[in-house]
Amino acid sequence: MRVPDGVPYLRSADEVRLAPGDLTIDGGRIAGFSAADADVVVDASGCAVLPGFVDCHTHLPFAGWRPEEYERKVTGVPYEEIARAGGGIAASARALAAASDDDVLAQAEALAREMLQHGTTAFEGKTGYGLSRDGEARAARLGRALAARVVQPMQLTGLFAHSVPPGFTADAWMDEAEALARESDIDALDIFVESVAFGNEHLARMGAIARATGRRLRAHVEQLSTMRSVPVALEWGARSVDHLSRMHPDDVAPLAASECAAVLLPGAELINAEPVPPARALADAGAICVLATDFNPGTSPIASMPVIIGLAVRWYGWSVREALIAATLNAAYVLDAADELGSLEPGKRADVLVLDGPAEHIPYRFGHNPVALVIAAGEVVWVRPDQAWRVRS
Ligand code: NIG
Ligand code: FE
Repeated sequence: MRVPDGVPYLRSADEVRLAPGDLTIDGGRIAGFSAADADVVVDASGCAVLPGFVDCHTHLPFAGWRPEEYERKVTGVPYEEIARAGGGIAASARALAAASDDDVLAQAEALAREMLQHGTTAFEGKTGYGLSRDGEARAARLGRALAARVVQPMQLTGLFAHSVPPGFTADAWMDEAEALARESDIDALDIFVESVAFGNEHLARMGAIARATGRRLRAHVEQLSTMRSVPVALEWGARSVDHLSRMHPDDVAPLAASECAAVLLPGAELINAEPVPPARALADAGAICVLATDFNPGTSPIASMPVIIGLAVRWYGWSVREALIAATLNAAYVLDAADELGSLEPGKRADVLVLDGPAEHIPYRFGHNPVALVIAAGEVVWVRPDQAWRVRS
């Protein structure tokens, strides 16, 4: 898969090429596109060769899972009742508080490995299950500790406004969130804008905090109810607005005209039975469209980008090339890393996938993991056992 060189994102998949050819790697970087003598040769005949997937929205590291809650959800128990019974974000916050640092990191490291085997060669994680000043500070430290353990480059977002902690009003908690933003080692800031969480005025305040502390602003918006948060996020120069299942149709054109990415999370749409976002309209209007897993123990226990691409192609009416751009270059743009990640371009980090068939099989063979081999920074880091014959050294 090739895209034009030197672009930070693509608003259309017209210029994406899926054509056969050779790829050479030198010193961990993409070197060029002709066959060359090499120490290691991978036979990719009949296979798609893609840039590694960039999963720009996960909630790693988290502790444990919430399968019982999912069963209650699908059998008709309303969210409010699940939350009243101690479920939801609060349940994951208790699990995080009860787990040792080692246990949290061991679980997250294993999950990052699972992501790698499904083609994710870079990802983002968030705080948000700390739910207290100390808990969130610890979550930020754990995020950085995870980054040091995993194969993938990992960015960390401070989702310091995820749920209003007990004993606080949303307004009062924003003072704590601001202090956390100032004192934590993080790359970006995030907030959950929702009837059950924070409001647009808090989004604006997080925008001001992001501006003052030099961090990118991201926001969970329009997931469970229509709050008209998109114009507020745009006013504050957000890098991304994420979810958008219930975005207002009038907000499609301004979002598409902006430099703010639309991060769509079909895993959460599946698990929560949310409406399908206006993804076709966003793509047609030229928005910077992005796909991610939203990997978290509540609303998207899904690690696989191929599954996410499969859902997006079916529900959004996107072409495979549209989905691939959303899962690679445009996702790297959200992380401000498109100069380094997200496409097969000379000089970029050599994060490369070899699939076991053509790219069109990713959505079509839904549920199958098509990743045969993963190269990270020029090193072969995963080969599916049945594909080992492809590698010669
Ligand atoms: O992105 N929307 C808010 N937060 C997470 C999930 C929270 C949870 O249930 O653990 C999300 O869907
Ligand atoms: Fe999320």
